[in-house]
Amino acid sequence: MQLKGKTAIITGAAGGIGRATVLRFAQEGAQVVAADIQGEGAEETAHIAGADYPDAVIAHTVDVSKGDQVERLISETVSHFGKLDVIFSNAAIMRDGSVVDLPESDWDTLFDANVKGAFLCGKYGIPAMRQGGGGSFIITASVNSFYAESDIAGYCATKGAVLQLTRAMAIDHGPEGVRVNCICPGWIETAMSQPFLEENPEGREFAGTIAPVGRIGQPDDVAGVAVFLASDASRFVTGAAYTVDGGWTAGMTKALALI
Ligand SMILES: NC(=O)c1ccc[n+]([C@@H]2O[C@H](COP(=O)([O-])OP(=O)(O)OC[C@H]3O[C@@H](n4cnc5c(N)ncnc54)[C@H](O)[C@@H]3O)[C@@H](O)[C@H]2O)c1
Repeated sequence: MQLKGKTAIITGAAGGIGRATVLRFAQEGAQVVAADIQGEGAEETAHIAGADYPDAVIAHTVDVSKGDQVERLISETVSHFGKLDVIFSNAAIMRDGSVVDLPESDWDTLFDANVKGAFLCGKYGIPAMRQGGGGSFIITASVNSFYAESDIAGYCATKGAVLQLTRAMAIDHGPEGVRVNCICPGWIETAMSQPFLEENPEGREFAGTIAPVGRIGQPDDVAGVAVFLASDASRFVTGAAYTVDGGWTAGMTKALALI
């Protein structure tokens, strides 16, 4: 029960990493708001959690790129649970393309969801966390925050931006008791990575090959690190980027060197 007594908001909670983290947080004793633009998916997450942890999780429909909606998410969380200790700003989208191929509107949509979403969660969430004496703010960045991949230029740019936002927020709000860290996942099997895995029959094998641990990641592999960063076990950790990639970005494995 590492999160007993804590209240958390998790965005992008309709599936994938967000849903897995909602379930882990509830298991660890937290009260959780499962927030997503896909309201039905968020409700489903709350329903699944409710089977084992009644009343621990409520769902909330939100577009994290809209200030008024994020402000409402924060105020309704505080009215329902009485306080706010943890925000896991995890929602994001993927759009393919080099800068030449990516439509201008997709660039804007990527930055609205992936970067502005984290900014707004901080803008409205940190004052609420300060009222309770501090808290933990976690952003899902990516290995693409520091390791670019072909044909996803806009997505890579957004993930680089949230890594630096993490550090800037950690410096500004550390003195107020708010810690800010990010998690940088490698290949994780979710709806976001599904198109790659489906389009490339060898994709799953490749994702395992490039990671020294020899397999693609699962959403719960990320959730465990989110629990640590949300808990008091990480009380002296802020401004940090935790790579959760099975060792992919540590260097070239023997198998990859032979390709
Ligand atoms: N899957 C991977 O391989 C991988 C790797 C590195 C980083 N990530 C990051 O992990 C995080 C979670 O993604 P996932 O892999 O679980 O994929 P996912 O597609 O299952 O989850 C993303 C969720 O964000 C929600 N969302 C998108 N835009 C939103 C908005 N404007 N407002 C509210 N919710 C919104 C979606 O509805 C979806 O439920 C993302 O930040 C993603 O960039 C994923």
